Amino acid sequence: MNEIINFLKTRRSTTAKTMISGHINESDLNDILACGIRVPDHGALNPWSLTVIKYKARYRIGKEILAPEFVLNNPEATEEEIDFEKNRFLRASAVIAVLFKPVSHPKIPSWEMELSTGAVCSNILVAAQSLGYAAQWLTEWYSYNDKMIKVVGGKPETDKLAGFIYIGDKEKEPVERRRPKIENVINYLTE
Ligand SMILES: Cc1cc2nc3c(=O)[nH]c(=O)nc-3n(C[C@H](O)[C@H](O)[C@H](O)COP(=O)(O)O)c2cc1C
Repeated sequence: MNEIINFLKTRRSTTAKTMISGHINESDLNDILACGIRVPDHGALNPWSLTVIKYKARYRIGKEILAPEFVLNNPEATEEEIDFEKNRFLRASAVIAVLFKPVSHPKIPSWEMELSTGAVCSNILVAAQSLGYAAQWLTEWYSYNDKMIKVVGGKPETDKLAGFIYIGDKEKEPVERRRPKIENVINYLTE
């Protein structure tokens, strides 16, 4: 079977919970990012931006945003829960935040710009997995947090976080998850 088809038919995300923070080769990261921005984009509007969070920034954002914002929304949080929030990004070697930045256009609807942003996330995920990394697309609560949107360069009034792609190393191969039955989701129109 064609190598790419075989990969796409069997690739699997590794949860951030089970990945190991290690090292992403710089040229791999550049390849992943190049694949991320090579997506269908109606009108070539680039209605998205990517922010790589790595090294100390993973900890800084945890300390300055994840932990305090979590406490603000969960005043009863335990020390253990707060620590977990603070260290979220440390689960990965790098986290790529993908921001949806709609552009005002007379013909192209915002929905299509959202779809293109989803394609950016997918491409990053698939590219990272194709290089053997553990990767997962997550939104979790902080994708909907204004401070988080701002720290990755967005405007909370207009922009949305499409997600964070966590990239790390695999401890072991992930187990397969439930997949849709072909006949339940694919239809053919032939006449
Ligand atoms: C937009 C989006 C947001 C997601 N956010 C979460 C999340 O916050 N928490 C979670 O456990 N899984 C989340 N997931 C699902 C994970 O990526 C999950 O591991 C996925 O089912 C892996 O499937 P795969 O092996 O087909 O890549 C999200 C998926 C998408 C598309």
